[in-house]
Amino acid sequence: MLSPTANHQPPTTNGSLSPQTITMTTLPETPTMENDNTTHLNGTGKKPKLAHVTHTISEAEIREEFSHHHRGVARINNGSFGSCPHSVLAAQSTWQLRFLQQPDDFYFNALRPGILASRAAIQDLINAGHVDDVSLVDNATTAAAVVLQQIGRRFVRGYFHRNDAVVMFHCAYQAVKKSIEAYVSPIGGTIVEVELPFPVRSEEEIITEFKKGLEKGKLNGGRVRLAIIDHITSMPSFVLPVRELIRVCREHGVEQVFVDGAHAIGSVPVDVKEIGADFYVSNLYKWFFSPPSVAFLYCKEKSNDVHHPVVSQEYGKGLPVESAWVGMRDYSPQLVVPSILEFVNRFEGGIEGIMKRNHDGVVKMGTMLAESWGTVLGSPPDMCASMIMVGLPSRLRVMSVDDALRLRSYLRVYHAVEVPVYYQALRNGDRDPRDKDGFITGYVRISHQVYNTADDYERLKTAINQLVEDGKVCSGLPKE
Ligand SMILES: Cc1ncc(COP(=O)(O)O)c(C=O)c1O
Repeated sequence: MLSPTANHQPPTTNGSLSPQTITMTTLPETPTMENDNTTHLNGTGKKPKLAHVTHTISEAEIREEFSHHHRGVARINNGSFGSCPHSVLAAQSTWQLRFLQQPDDFYFNALRPGILASRAAIQDLINAGHVDDVSLVDNATTAAAVVLQQIGRRFVRGYFHRNDAVVMFHCAYQAVKKSIEAYVSPIGGTIVEVELPFPVRSEEEIITEFKKGLEKGKLNGGRVRLAIIDHITSMPSFVLPVRELIRVCREHGVEQVFVDGAHAIGSVPVDVKEIGADFYVSNLYKWFFSPPSVAFLYCKEKSNDVHHPVVSQEYGKGLPVESAWVGMRDYSPQLVVPSILEFVNRFEGGIEGIMKRNHDGVVKMGTMLAESWGTVLGSPPDMCASMIMVGLPSRLRVMSVDDALRLRSYLRVYHAVEVPVYYQALRNGDRDPRDKDGFITGYVRISHQVYNTADDYERLKTAINQLVEDGKVCSGLPKE
């Protein structure tokens, strides 16, 4: 059992490891627990106080913050694994040392108030009604397990029936699809996958396809029990009109909506009240500068039947408490949210400023690449956030997933460019995009984060142009 704690001072270690000395800011005080040893985290966490930011971060300071990145590598794939600045890593290390210095004290007095402070900061950021609506879990995959296990239990208990459906987009993340395969399909739920057009031209075409999917989900007298909607799809990548899609769900009587916003926080505004989903997850490690790995899961309704997939001593005390202790492990990624806020607030406009900077940067670089290669973007710029799909020259002949992987490895090994490559099979001759030599079937998904510079994208541009000039095709590239 965890005990109540006096107002806990920020952890400090020796000067060289203290984030204060590195960031010119301070770790926020962790809030006192309002509650006692019943282990409920439903006290109102104090909002972390931000130290006064005296000047906007300079380009040199940004480089310093990411100086642990391998030099000479063009990292234009922030979307997959994210990135964490030095000052946040230092704060994490301070928490880790604090634990190692005196584990018992940490466990009883620091851990839960620290997690509560992080949840309170997220509550504020996403406009959640109460801190208990916000749980911290490891990642979006864990959140998907929380949501889908709960759906699975309803089928097992007979509240849901064989013709009832889960509706999602065909490009939903594999881990989410596999969760459905694991928790819903075996007990008879119907799965409807909505095919999305790509390249995508407008939000309307997405909404039209989605409505058809919902109708399909209601065939044979069934109900759509769950709709899973990506806020930003992974591959191919673009921003979906979540609010509008949820409105459509409500019109069609969909029981629960789970938004997979794995890429959302830090790249698009997230206001969970406005969005209106029953569950909303976003990773913090992708676009919100946390170390690996932490995500928030917002749950609109309090429910006794929503549980962390790893059962611990906290089982039955509500998801926020269950998630705050899943056995002995490193909880430091969950504790650094206030330090992340300090980092982002050093930028002009804070996190909104970062979003704008990245969006403008990725559109500019994507457009530059498409022009140089004579290809197209995979979506209108206003349907992207900090990632955009750029068509590859058809002469490279990306004709399979294997070709795409070969090109991705080739770029990493021979040109030190980290970028995912996507293969899009031809679907419909009238609509499939072409360049001067043929159909475009390959795309790169480029990301833009604050550490990127134009040189990163120039390197990619030149590498691809060189391959084309040399008459190389993907199937002839070395397999690494
Ligand atoms: C849309 C989407 N959903 C879910 C995930 C899974 O995230 P994680 O690996 O953090 O569980 C990802 C990862 O990239 C993703 O892009």
